[in-house]
Amino acid sequence: MALTQIDDKIRRTDAVSKARGEAVYLSDMNLEGMLHAQMLRSTVARGRILSVDIPSLPDGYYYISAADIPEGGVNSLWMIQKDWRCFAEGDVRYVGETIGLFVGKSREVLKSLVANTHVEYEETVPAVTIDDAIAVKGGPILEKDDVHCSLYCEKGRPMDDVFAEADMIVEETIETGFQEHVHLETNGCIALPEDDHYVIYASAQCPFYIRKSVAGVVNLPIDKIVVRQTVTGGAFGGKENFPDVLAGPALLAAYVIGKPVRLCFDREEDMEFSVKRHPSKVIYRTAVKDGKITGTKGTVYYNAGAYLSSSFVVLQRGVFHATGVYDIPNAFVEGFGMATNTFPSDAFRGFGAPQTLFAYEVHLDHVARRMGRDPVDLKSELFIKKGGETITNGHIVEEVMLPKMLDDIATASDYWRKSAEYGYGSGKGIGMAFYNHGGAFTGNGEQALIKAHARLVKTGDKVRIECGQTEMGQGFNTILRKIAASVLGIPIEDVDYPAPDTSCVPDSGPTAASRSTMIVGKLIERCAIEMKERWADGDFSVEKEYEHPDGHPWDQGTFRGDAYLGYGWGAVCVELEVDRRTNEVTVKGIWSSHEIGKAIDELIVHGQINGGIVQALGWAAMEKMENRNGHFKQTSMSDYVIPTSMEFPHQTYFIQDNPYEWGPFGAKGMGELVFNGAAAAYVDALERAIGKEACKIPLPPEDIEEVIRNDR
Ligand code: MTE
Ligand code: HPA
Ligand code: MOS
Repeated sequence: MALTQIDDKIRRTDAVSKARGEAVYLSDMNLEGMLHAQMLRSTVARGRILSVDIPSLPDGYYYISAADIPEGGVNSLWMIQKDWRCFAEGDVRYVGETIGLFVGKSREVLKSLVANTHVEYEETVPAVTIDDAIAVKGGPILEKDDVHCSLYCEKGRPMDDVFAEADMIVEETIETGFQEHVHLETNGCIALPEDDHYVIYASAQCPFYIRKSVAGVVNLPIDKIVVRQTVTGGAFGGKENFPDVLAGPALLAAYVIGKPVRLCFDREEDMEFSVKRHPSKVIYRTAVKDGKITGTKGTVYYNAGAYLSSSFVVLQRGVFHATGVYDIPNAFVEGFGMATNTFPSDAFRGFGAPQTLFAYEVHLDHVARRMGRDPVDLKSELFIKKGGETITNGHIVEEVMLPKMLDDIATASDYWRKSAEYGYGSGKGIGMAFYNHGGAFTGNGEQALIKAHARLVKTGDKVRIECGQTEMGQGFNTILRKIAASVLGIPIEDVDYPAPDTSCVPDSGPTAASRSTMIVGKLIERCAIEMKERWADGDFSVEKEYEHPDGHPWDQGTFRGDAYLGYGWGAVCVELEVDRRTNEVTVKGIWSSHEIGKAIDELIVHGQINGGIVQALGWAAMEKMENRNGHFKQTSMSDYVIPTSMEFPHQTYFIQDNPYEWGPFGAKGMGELVFNGAAAAYVDALERAIGKEACKIPLPPEDIEEVIRNDR
């Protein structure tokens, strides 16, 4: 077997088992005596529950609800706060809220039990949109008002002064819609009693999150709950907190019945009754004086839905990315997470950053047009540099390579010639966007909240990695084994990295925030360096804890300081043509350049780039998820259309090396970065092609028609 070198392009460790169909997913598992479960869900968005009439239960069938929670147990899931109830009790706050769980042998019988249950409600008018929440439709959803969370940040001088001095002020509102994850494997878990504890198998990103979230429901200490990740067929943030919503009721059922209980969503359930990306509405007001942008005020609204979940953290990331990759001398940005009666919104690749980055890119395009400038020209003058001050009064630690990246894609796409030739309104357009993504948890999250640990265990000539990070398609199993093997100078086949089991591995934090490579990869690199020095010592293990670099303060009370250390950076160019009769768009070319410190494996990075860009183009161009009275309208893959390999052309990509001091082999996070820019580049190109300004995505052909009929 060949020794693994960091620069080799290698076959993914999970490729063969997945391609051959040998990988065992949750729905392939069939445990002795296992029962199935089907959720009874709220069919109204908001109201009091007057009664729940369930049909008589056949032998071996059960109905589990809040009434079954044992003494001392709580009816809440512990995400960031404990506001999301395990079962609705007294009232319901969104369509799809779990009221109870039917459990038994046959899924058909379970479905008929759900269909024959009669729930009587006293309905109240729901708030569905951000505007509904602002207007506090039908009275507040929350006890206080309809804002789940809020914050603000400022930099430079007071914005009132900046506006008073301005020659021109451009104000506009930019909106984005819901986005459904459509991970190919739907959500699912199995809960069962085992010895003196309970086991939860789950398709999930964060086994340790589930353990903490559900233990309180059955009033057990967390170490009596063991979570084992099963092969996960895609997640994209949709399995960061949401698995708790399945695991809580399933665990209670296993606790009451004493048998394994499997709760697995079919595709319709997974689309209709799961978390989505936060819809957003961002109002920007930008001042221009003497041909220069002097300041921006932003008001950011995210539709958080019925429960907080991770929305405050999503909103923070949104606010912290709200002035893009630019050094805007004066800025004030406030953010509000609005409570509505829609399914709670939650993590989705980018975690709040894509919405504001999109809005600011589009806004700057519009400002540039009013200044008579080419947007790319204007933006490139504003690129933030090493040492530049961020909106949280922190500073950029790395050399910012955006000028080089712009050059990469402008040259490859022939941007300047095409931009001049296509002009505005010719039916052809070429557009660009620039973006970044702060790697890992915000501020002191890594240091204060997570305190990641990871371990390397040596047995003979082989080593095993022990940590809580999960493989969900992003390639982390390959990345981490490659880091260990390269440092140790052994073949990757000699490094094992089993899927995490919370009873056997140290808690290395969630697989989220694109943190796995830069944070946990670094821990394993440090473990491997020490192990190599002591290789001759026989069998032993090395465990390391996260160490935060000195000199980068963060105040979580005021949101000031270095919100992130290493950012990934990106530039993307999209070229397209619009059919003037049907408004159908054909994308002709996609060019991107990313600076991610160092690519641990170019093939995996290439896959992430391709996938992230296509996912963002889907968000911008075709993925329309509407909500009427709290009900999602698109509930299948035939009405919610995601891109396939037919939709977009071959992509050209560039990767810039810029080794990051605190990442393994110099690597930074990149899994979400690649999502953050393509929607804005697409809209830039589309606006140029149709000669009209768009302030809202998604833009399927019918919505393009609306834009064309606008007078902007
Ligand atoms: N890529 C694939 N194929 N599948 C996924 O579920 N999730 C994304 C991204 N890339 C995802 C993916 C999200 S939301 C995150 S946070 C990162 O991967 C997490 O993985 P990392 O920490 O290894 O970057
Ligand atoms: N991304 C995902 N999950 C998180 C983050 C983040 O930035 N911060 C806290 N939880
Ligand atoms: Mo990713 S949205 O941080 O799971």
